[in-house]
Amino acid sequence: MVELQREAYPRSNRYDADWVLGGDMGPHPLWLLEDLARDLELRPGMRVLDLGSGKGTTSVFLAREYDVEVWAADLWVDPTEAAANIASQGADGIVTVKAEAHTLPFAREFFDAIVCVDAYEYFGTADTYLAYLTSFLKPGGQLGVATPALRKEIRDLGFIPDHIKKLIGSEALAWHTADWWRFQWEITELVEVTAARLQESGWDDWLAWSRAVSAYRGERDGTLDMLEADQGEYLTFAILAARKL
Ligand SMILES: C[S@@+](CC[C@H](N)C(=O)[O-])C[C@H]1O[C@@H](n2cnc3c(N)ncnc32)[C@H](O)[C@@H]1O
Repeated sequence: MVELQREAYPRSNRYDADWVLGGDMGPHPLWLLEDLARDLELRPGMRVLDLGSGKGTTSVFLAREYDVEVWAADLWVDPTEAAANIASQGADGIVTVKAEAHTLPFAREFFDAIVCVDAYEYFGTADTYLAYLTSFLKPGGQLGVATPALRKEIRDLGFIPDHIKKLIGSEALAWHTADWWRFQWEITELVEVTAARLQESGWDDWLAWSRAVSAYRGERDGTLDMLEADQGEYLTFAILAARKL
């Protein structure tokens, strides 16, 4: 059994480490969500869309920690597989749905909150996307995103750092600074941005998680070379929260 405890994440510490590691699709989803939720107001009974929910780890956390109703929508993971992974934890109130982020099968103004952990970078950087996504939020509804981020814009650097390019390629162009996101969202006047910050511990958390994944799987995780080369110079996560106006 791999130990995965962090003082900064008391809620996440209560989850079975093997179950969390078994659902690995990137960095530690619960550490990211626990931090993101500090900038959201999630109240019992709210309807929450977990967009890009993967195997449903974050959906279980949302339902259990905040007593919200969760729609777990994902493209790559089959909803039956996600439902089985969720059921293994005895969680209630979660509907799994296969969905593509640009053609969401929901009514407009249906959700009180939309949460997106380590997925927004795949579909959320287009200038028009915020307007589309927030159309599914009630007025005053909240959007919360945790996404890989860089401490400097690639546009300003003029290059993608080699150790990032080697693993991520040009997709790293979707990784931005918190200021980039703040401007991108605020300029629309569709939302009030309530948080746009870089995690101080983002690189360190990601490294600890990748080491734990390596120990769990018995083989070196693919992100370790990138993270070790980076040493926290560029890589972290952005925590973004906004309220629909
Ligand atoms: C790195 S995984 C993270 C999964 C999960 N949020 C977690 O943290 O464990 C990214 C997820 O984004 C989803 N995704 C990527 N592109 C998508 C799209 N266009 N529409 C819906 N989901 C998408 C994938 O299906 C995948 O499960």
